[in-house]
Amino acid sequence: MSQPVSYRVVGNVGVITIDNPPVNAFSHAVRTGLRDAVETATADATGIVLIACAGRTFVAGADISEFGKPPADPWLPEVLDLVEASHKPVVTAVHGTALGGGFELVLASHYRCAVAGARVGLPEVHLGLLPGAGGTQRTPRLAGVEAALDLMLSGKPIRAAEAESLGLIDRVFEDNLEANALAWCEELLAAGEGPRKVSEKTVPTVDTAVFEATRKTLAKRARGQLAPFKIVDCVEEATRADFASGAEFERERFRECLESPQSAAMRHLFFAEREAAKVSDLPKETPVREIRSVGIIGGGTMGGGIAMSCANAGLPVHLLEVDAAALERGFSIIKGNYSTTVSKGRLKAQDAEQRLGLIEGTADYAALADVDVVIEAVFEDPELKKTIFRKLDEVCKPGAILATNTSYQDVDAIAAVTSRPEDCIGLHFFSPANVMRLLEVVRGEKTSGEVLATAIRFAKTIRKVPAVSRVCYGFIGNRMVNPYMREAQKLLLEGAMPETVDAALFDFGMAMGPVAVSDLAGLDIGYKARQALPPEARGDETAFRVVDTLVEAGRLGQKTGAGFYTSDPATRAAAPDPNVAKLIVETSEALGIERRDIEDTEIVERCVFSLVNEGMKILEEGVAQRPGDIDIVYLYGYGFPVFRGGPMFYADAVGLPHVLERVREFHERFNSGEPAALLESLVADGKRLADWAGTDA
Ligand code: CAA
Ligand code: NAI
Repeated sequence: MSQPVSYRVVGNVGVITIDNPPVNAFSHAVRTGLRDAVETATADATGIVLIACAGRTFVAGADISEFGKPPADPWLPEVLDLVEASHKPVVTAVHGTALGGGFELVLASHYRCAVAGARVGLPEVHLGLLPGAGGTQRTPRLAGVEAALDLMLSGKPIRAAEAESLGLIDRVFEDNLEANALAWCEELLAAGEGPRKVSEKTVPTVDTAVFEATRKTLAKRARGQLAPFKIVDCVEEATRADFASGAEFERERFRECLESPQSAAMRHLFFAEREAAKVSDLPKETPVREIRSVGIIGGGTMGGGIAMSCANAGLPVHLLEVDAAALERGFSIIKGNYSTTVSKGRLKAQDAEQRLGLIEGTADYAALADVDVVIEAVFEDPELKKTIFRKLDEVCKPGAILATNTSYQDVDAIAAVTSRPEDCIGLHFFSPANVMRLLEVVRGEKTSGEVLATAIRFAKTIRKVPAVSRVCYGFIGNRMVNPYMREAQKLLLEGAMPETVDAALFDFGMAMGPVAVSDLAGLDIGYKARQALPPEARGDETAFRVVDTLVEAGRLGQKTGAGFYTSDPATRAAAPDPNVAKLIVETSEALGIERRDIEDTEIVERCVFSLVNEGMKILEEGVAQRPGDIDIVYLYGYGFPVFRGGPMFYADAVGLPHVLERVREFHERFNSGEPAALLESLVADGKRLADWAGTDA
């Protein structure tokens, strides 16, 4: 195997090249190779050292797959200290992305250049970590405290030009990075420039109130998370201590984060997200169709958001509605959404105009004759959807992908009305579709591999995170959420109130509690979905007695100003309603349920373990390919706390024997879902879900 770090001499420059595909991560071999190369370079006759990378990018950070394994010398901070300590000047040249430890290498070098298209950043916070190789100490020394906090707490990479303006990069070259970097090295040498150590700089003075203010903001924005607060502590320490003590402080906090369950959860999600885009029986070389234009049918809540997602990615859209009035309605919402984004300063007015210009309204199917994919988003009525698919089959060109955004309907039955079920698929977006990152790709019985691969690629094109589901009622996400919502409703009848159920799950880390979510989505949505089911499939309907009464009284949730909560029309702030409390107590009485005090732990376990138990059933049936895919669905589609790693990872973390014990107890005492066979068998075999080899094994 070729060495991941090589050394060569070009004129007076000792050039170190890191070549460790795919992203030049700092694996143990790279750290060792870099240490050795720096030792060689500083010992020979060259006058200056240049560190650059081969392949698509500069170093994208530590090798995340090595975290959680026993540490192996040399540690990255030691290697970077060696770089900074070099008696010859060291230059780094960035292309692609210099992230995490990769950017910390750049900060440890003495002179820093980048090609214009490069980006740099410290995204460790997304992995439940902090920059642990001097980043929290060097960044504020170069860019100041506020910019440093922003970079590390947002985790967002910035462009080379911005990094230059912040003082993090010295030179930006339009192109020809290597040639320009070499010429710059010679220039520095000729000018007699020596090493410049960032660690010897002082942190620019700052009003220390910024730290408390940041912590206050984080208490909301990063609720429940450890790493962001540790980042603030480290930067604050940088303003108080010398570099060596600050670096020691940083290292201790880094270790605490690394060993925390939160970081394990977030690292799991990093790999799960990438794995979810892979389908086990779909070869890598499966051909992918080109998507250059999109048709959307139905310009309501979902169709409008989907159109925006496509236009935001530069794709032209034909949006088909029943008539001009419906189109007008749809466009006014789209325009409103764009102008809100513009008024918040997140989009330039001319970009909004350009995106809007990509969406063309029509009431004529002929406009869809040439599009590459059509996404149907009309009312949730199976017969209407079938009628539309018959029409699409007539008008769309051969090879066009015909997709439905249905939440619950049978994708195979819809595909069966066409002469090309192999070209049909479910593309299940989440509301608001222009914001939510998840896209459930629903693979029909007859969907071809090519169409599936194209749908996954399309998801990425429009910046969504794909997760593949087989066809079943509600697919992965909504099927699991049903028992979760049912438990929340039962808890109300047994003794809890909407605000106590919501608070327990909010404190667990959910973006919103289940009752508040129902109010936001509209109580009529679940009501109609239940009504559409055959009676034998509805389960114990008494669980929904309260919500049914509210809907029948016209309290549909936030949109009518009242549901479980009353909501302020201007601020949308929700307040508990004594009338609803009364209704809940009366309903318990009418159903003969004796109300009791219910602890938060029970509320959380009843709801979250019902998700887990249904997730197990989904896995054993092969509806989801892997536990990690379910975690991704819940992270990006349902506001599950990132630091808990998704419901299935969480189940492993609390221990499957405990989960099973509680699921059994809840089944016996409260008629909650029967324990899944997979859960029973994993516990019987003493296994974790992470050790499970899949349905085919
Ligand atoms: N370690 C290990 N593997 C990594 C990796 C890393 N840091 N970064 C990416 N990979 C792997 C991915 O898992 C993926 O593997 P598969 O092909 O097997 O799925 C492959 O590299 C390509 O990655 P992407 O699919 O994400 O490729 P992309 O082109 O869309 O994005 C990227 C490239 C922007 C570098 C993106 O991968 C990324 O953001 N990586 C993570 C960067 C990061 O978080 N760095 C900080 C690490 S922690 C650290 O450095 C701590 C410290 O202070 C010492
Ligand atoms: P909506 O009621 O907001 O919009 C539906 C639109 O379809 C209306 O604008 C209507 O005029 C149009 N329409 C009806 N018949 C049509 C026809 N024959 N031709 C062209 N347009 C027609 O509904 P919403 O919420 O956008 O839902 C659409 C689909 O998306 C449903 O299948 C729903 O289950 C699904 N979905 C909804 C989510 C949500 O949160 N609202 C989330 C995910 C999926």
